[in-house]
Amino acid sequence: MTITNRNWMTIVSVFVISISLFLIPCDASRHHKPKINTIYQFGDSLSDTGNFIHEKNIGKSQMYTCNYPYGETFFGKPSGRACDGRLIIDYLPQALGLPLLNPYLVKKASFKHGVSFAVSGATALNTSLLSDRGIYAYYTYSSLDVQVEWFKTHLKSLGMIKDCNLLDDYSASKRLDKALFIVGEIGASDYASALIDERTPKEIMDLVPLVIQKIKETVGKLIELGATRLIIPGDFPNGCVPAVLTQSVSNALTELRTTYPHAVVLYADYYTSFFNLIKNADHLGFEKQNLLKACCGTGGAYNFDLFNICGDRRSGIPFKVCSNPDRRVSWDGIHLTQKAYSLMAEEIIRNLFPKLK
Ligand SMILES: *[C@@H]1O[C@H](CO)[C@@H](O)[C@H](O)[C@H]1NC(C)=O
Repeated sequence: MTITNRNWMTIVSVFVISISLFLIPCDASRHHKPKINTIYQFGDSLSDTGNFIHEKNIGKSQMYTCNYPYGETFFGKPSGRACDGRLIIDYLPQALGLPLLNPYLVKKASFKHGVSFAVSGATALNTSLLSDRGIYAYYTYSSLDVQVEWFKTHLKSLGMIKDCNLLDDYSASKRLDKALFIVGEIGASDYASALIDERTPKEIMDLVPLVIQKIKETVGKLIELGATRLIIPGDFPNGCVPAVLTQSVSNALTELRTTYPHAVVLYADYYTSFFNLIKNADHLGFEKQNLLKACCGTGGAYNFDLFNICGDRRSGIPFKVCSNPDRRVSWDGIHLTQKAYSLMAEEIIRNLFPKLK
């Protein structure tokens, strides 16, 4: 996902009028632990644990997450995560006693307890649909459709599906019974690509129902393949995605719950979670004067320039990196810090995990 300076201004104004709930950090281990043995993650840079840097670079952007200072807080070196450390998807398995999710594109990695199929810059809509609308993928062609194909290939490798799309036997569906599927966040890169391609606001808004339809179809497909427990995160506020999107996503999920009453389909409200961080910044240890300022960037009021993002070495402009990322919400002007992600993960563990049964 991408946020331009202009969009940051929108965030500032939305932030001023937003009313959000109080967020209290707590010890996740005390909470209900659902019986989950596997996690499958689909999405973009919010949940990419290393796929993008293992893909063939399509050449329109630099693989900035390969570079210092990505990973400086955790792992001690770049891992392909768009963060100074761990992502939301790193905290969720930990709370369930499971290992970190390996990226699907790493050969010979273990996928015993799950896989991340997410790729930085991945769009919800496929490249043919986007290019019909004059929008091009800037980072990757591995859209949601591609990620679902990867998932099917993964099931085939386990012998769980053969040529048809149906699970082969009862024991296979039993196996997915204890799997948690997380579909998203996805969609922000569609809007960002449209912005880069200078589509009109109307053309961008026209993508919204298509993105929601794609997410809905994908969730339906996964349920038909055997998924019974799913979390669907919404978008962060990023200027061109209004709060109404949150409403349309939850309407889509209501329809899915009616169609598939045996599945648990939960919505993770990243939009509200983000405002909770901003609203409770003081209490959470974030620097009030730097709430919208990226920890790493090439300077400017928000330490952010879309065309010279942290980690992109092409311009040769040195990055200014803050001394303590834990005191910032924004890591690089697009993605959040490990600290921010850990707090958002706590909300999921506290509020959604008990509903997974
Ligand atoms: C792209 O997405 C559209 C809309 O969901 C779908 O109809 C089409 O079959 C997809 N194309 C490819 C090549 O997957």
